[in-house]
Amino acid sequence: MTGASSGIGRAIAVALADAGHAVVLAARGRDRLDAVAAELRARGASVLAETCDVADPAAVERLVASTVAQFGRLDVVVANAGVYLRRPAHELQREDFAAMLATNFWGTVHVAQAALPHLLAAASGHLVLMTSFDAKKTLPHDGAYAAAKAAVAAWAAALRQSLRGRGVHVCTVFPGRVDTPMCDPIEVPAISAKIPPERVARAVLRALRRRQAEVIVPWHCRLLAWADTLSPRLGDWFVRVLGIDGRSRAR
Ligand SMILES: NC(=O)c1ccc[n+]([C@@H]2O[C@H](COP(=O)([O-])OP(=O)(O)OC[C@H]3O[C@@H](n4cnc5c(N)ncnc54)[C@H](OP(=O)(O)O)[C@@H]3O)[C@@H](O)[C@H]2O)c1
Repeated sequence: MTGASSGIGRAIAVALADAGHAVVLAARGRDRLDAVAAELRARGASVLAETCDVADPAAVERLVASTVAQFGRLDVVVANAGVYLRRPAHELQREDFAAMLATNFWGTVHVAQAALPHLLAAASGHLVLMTSFDAKKTLPHDGAYAAAKAAVAAWAAALRQSLRGRGVHVCTVFPGRVDTPMCDPIEVPAISAKIPPERVARAVLRALRRRQAEVIVPWHCRLLAWADTLSPRLGDWFVRVLGIDGRSRAR
């Protein structure tokens, strides 16, 4: 479980622990990671907490190796670590794309590639790839972030098909706005109100049971995707008129 020290990752880790899984928590910072590890141990879970930067493929290989050494196998791999950048699309610089791709795209690929040999050898398990609803309908300030998330979504769709019949379930998760530190700096209208991270976690656990290909949460995000499929300008209109892009909070 990467990005396990905060927000959605923490909520999924708690849900997996409560479902009886031993959980491996990973993030860059030690303090928040240890706090989540203590919380899970207090709930009776077996926990390993490792610092790891998902942008570094060697660090991710070490994380997977220590997971397998400690627990013998991988059942559910959640590539959730992510970072956000809010900037109008026309002002984005090369460095902005590089930063988003390094963690949100390459970080996800590194986790999946390190885990897949183990999942395929066992012909079982779940690979959960966290993207964003932004990858379905991109908001004006989310160009670099969503480009990386859309790249994950495209790759995940290919992976799901190429692994068909091999026993490994690939699930792509597209949350709308979620009430986590990542989303703190943004004020959003009621129509795209932030949902609790626990709601995403419940949807992910349900998707594991049902072996769903995709999770879109909250459900009503689909309305915007459908409008956008009918006509991108209609999708743009909904974003503009309903103020879905939100506003940066005054600091
Ligand atoms: N919040 C939303 O509205 C929303 C909506 C759609 C999708 N998502 C996606 O959901 C995922 C979780 O987001 P969140 O809202 O829970 O954010 P968050 O509360 O800011 O948590 C992000 C987590 O990722 C870790 N992380 C960041 N960069 C990392 C790196 N290079 N290597 C390893 N860990 C890293 C962070 O810990 P360290 O900083 O200590 O590494 C933290 O544990 C992200 O992929 C995000 O894009 C969020």
